[in-house]
Amino acid sequence: MKRGFIFDLDGVIVDTAKYHYLAWKKLANELGFEFTKEQNELFKGVSRKRCLEILLEIGNRKATQEEFDTWMIEKNVDYLEYIKKMDQSEILPDVPKILQYLKENNIPIALGSASKNAQPILEKVGLLHYFDAIVDGNNVTKAKPDPEVFLLAAKHLNVAPTDCVVFEDAVAGIEAANRAKMISIGIGDKNVLTEAQFNFVDFTEISLDFIKEIIDN
Ligand code: BG6
Ligand code: MG
Repeated sequence: MKRGFIFDLDGVIVDTAKYHYLAWKKLANELGFEFTKEQNELFKGVSRKRCLEILLEIGNRKATQEEFDTWMIEKNVDYLEYIKKMDQSEILPDVPKILQYLKENNIPIALGSASKNAQPILEKVGLLHYFDAIVDGNNVTKAKPDPEVFLLAAKHLNVAPTDCVVFEDAVAGIEAANRAKMISIGIGDKNVLTEAQFNFVDFTEISLDFIKEIIDN
């Protein structure tokens, strides 16, 4: 049996949720309504298009197709401004330690993210070289909780889905991993990620012994 490891990006590898939030908040404010951090929880793991739909529902705003497209672009331009300044300091604690361990043990690693900005972010923080496959918002037609993103990642790694392990911080992502019949590991609040097979607050809680055990069993 050969294991494959699949990582979500935003909220698992890097703390970019705050930048997504600031960009959406700016748009909401321009459109004349508030957007809170609590509401931002709904946006985790969700595609850019779906996020804007939810945002407009929150603000009770209707949009023409043209407005919708303009606002999608505007949000992304603002988001890109934030991530332009990103560097290694924004990698979440102990992520490189786990990636390094997997690499040293020849375990294939993939990214499975909803973001269309995934690759430049990995480049910016200097982690791109760890990944044997990148599957992101540019490669999928169905958003999480659909398992497509993770099934495609498993295919690229040439590993059976049931032998893959997924790290996720979003409810939709855990559901996608479970639907793909993969081992789901929730990173974040276990009271939120209730469907995950394993839960950790962050990677500092994950020992290399635990990773080894998953690889071997
Ligand atoms: C996910 C984030 O990883 O990517 C979502 O959790 C985000 O909040 C989605 O909306 C799409 O990202 P992007 O970079 O393509 O707008
Ligand atoms: Mg995420």
